[in-house]
Amino acid sequence: MTARPRPPRSSLWWGRRGLTPDAGAPAPDALPGAADVLVVGAGLTGLCTAVLLARAGHPPVVVDGRAAGAGTTGHSTAKLSLLQGSVLQRLHQHAGADVVSAYVRANRAGQLWLLEELRRRDVDVQAQLAVTYAVTDEGARKVDREAEVARAAGLAVEGLDDAGLPFPVRAAIGLRDQAQFDPLEVIGALREELTELGGTLVEGARVTGASWSRPWRVATTAGDVVATRVVLATQYPVLDRGLHFARLRASRSYAMAYRLPDSGRVPRGMSLSLDSPTRSVRTAPDPDGDLLLVGGNDHETGRGGSTRAKADELDEWARRHFAVGDALWSWSAQDYRTSRQVPSVGALPGTGGSLLVATGFDKWGMTNAAAAAHVLVGDLMGEPPEYASGLRSVGVNPRDVASSLRHNGSVGFRWVADRVVRALPAPTSDPPAEGAGRVEGGPFGPAAVSTVDGRTCRVSAVCTHLGGVVSWNDVERSWDCPLHGSRFTADGIRIEGPATKDLRPSGSD
Ligand SMILES: Cc1cc2nc3c(=O)[nH]c(=O)nc-3n(C[C@H](O)[C@H](O)[C@H](O)COP(=O)(O)OP(=O)(O)OC[C@H]3O[C@@H](n4cnc5c(N)ncnc54)[C@H](O)[C@@H]3O)c2cc1C
Ligand code: FES
Repeated sequence: MTARPRPPRSSLWWGRRGLTPDAGAPAPDALPGAADVLVVGAGLTGLCTAVLLARAGHPPVVVDGRAAGAGTTGHSTAKLSLLQGSVLQRLHQHAGADVVSAYVRANRAGQLWLLEELRRRDVDVQAQLAVTYAVTDEGARKVDREAEVARAAGLAVEGLDDAGLPFPVRAAIGLRDQAQFDPLEVIGALREELTELGGTLVEGARVTGASWSRPWRVATTAGDVVATRVVLATQYPVLDRGLHFARLRASRSYAMAYRLPDSGRVPRGMSLSLDSPTRSVRTAPDPDGDLLLVGGNDHETGRGGSTRAKADELDEWARRHFAVGDALWSWSAQDYRTSRQVPSVGALPGTGGSLLVATGFDKWGMTNAAAAAHVLVGDLMGEPPEYASGLRSVGVNPRDVASSLRHNGSVGFRWVADRVVRALPAPTSDPPAEGAGRVEGGPFGPAAVSTVDGRTCRVSAVCTHLGGVVSWNDVERSWDCPLHGSRFTADGIRIEGPATKDLRPSGSD
């Protein structure tokens, strides 16, 4: 049997433009040396924040280590929906009905603002029915519970007899008039408005550190910027000195895009299953005919074994149910969940309100990023939106503590197990097979060795954030840290996560 060709590793959004999300180094004078507000990260959160600041008469400087949209935004399935899987029931269980209500108000405000922005900038947005469904009894119970909590929070959720999917389902609910788009068109519209309003966007300038006192001297690979206020819109906050965010969990998911054949089964709406593994489905218009996007198989970054097996299983599921051919593009990406179940948005403690973060969107960042931008800018201007206090009222309850102890416990276990107990294989001169990687060597100098495109690389296996030992990701051909989700290329260049530095040369630990 001949092996099926692997589709290009790129998101549909970057792939169909023939672009990669990397930016070269900026021109020597591109980065201003001073800024009132510096926004780090040009994903949806950073650019919504920057546009709101510019509209308020404070055009900021925005820097991104890669290209705008290079992060999760440009790898999202981009459903702009208030029906968000099992988010509301989890939030209800953690924090009660008032917080669910504040969360829905925040997301509705974010959704409306973004829709209005996209309408004004003439971006193609498709109105869609959002569908949540289940194929198992356990999943069906969750679907019913989500409908109950959502209706109590004022969402017009309806039961569906037909989920519009080519297989039987046990339960399905829908919410009309939600939306989907191409996230890079959104990024393009926001950057255009930012520039028109006098803001500055510098791509290819990665933040590597900052001073310990104000004004913040922020070091980037393109020079330093002295800023009065800094917004970290980098998902995991890259300058978290107090480890406030050590409880954030990074979760990766897989996605693929296929051409829908004429005789293919076209799903109705944008759907998400509440079963395990999760399945996300939507269509996307394309000049050469509609496309099908499937996503799912999430797992904690750097844990859970072969990522190739997860991607292959998702591909097999799509072919079986939708009669599609070979995938055109295949990709994966990660987002973070807080132990409080609500995004963390606002100033870091001890910074006098001048170092702000927004993270923990739990794979619902299209609405949450726009809502978070309003909170951040409201905080900076002294007028946060009414829903901000409701979301901030979520305390840490005993269940949160237990969950975070379990997570940190397993993180600690990984650290000890990886560095001390686990007997790493002794170094060998045999290079790994093409596309494979292994960690080898003793506890005081584990090395990460991989072969990609015929080139064997050996770098330190110790993550430059807090010393986790990285694992090989055979889909992305990257080194992924199981502690807080930092990721590095095969030759050790930092891709994403809280680490700001590349992996060190092997033997330097
Ligand atoms: C597979 C998948 C599918 C999803 N689908 C949906 C969906 O359908 N609907 C939905 O609502 N949400 C979805 N999400 C979630 C949503 O995409 C994210 O929550 C959202 O895009 C996060 O935006 P952001 O701007 O906060 O982060 P990002 O888009 O990741 O932007 C962060 C930026 O910061 C930059 N950066 C990081 N570190 C540095 C540094 N040190 N210096 C300079 N720049 C730096 C990065 O390059 C990046 O551009 C999905 C998530 C995943 C993983
Ligand atoms: S990401 Fe924190 S130790 Fe690696």
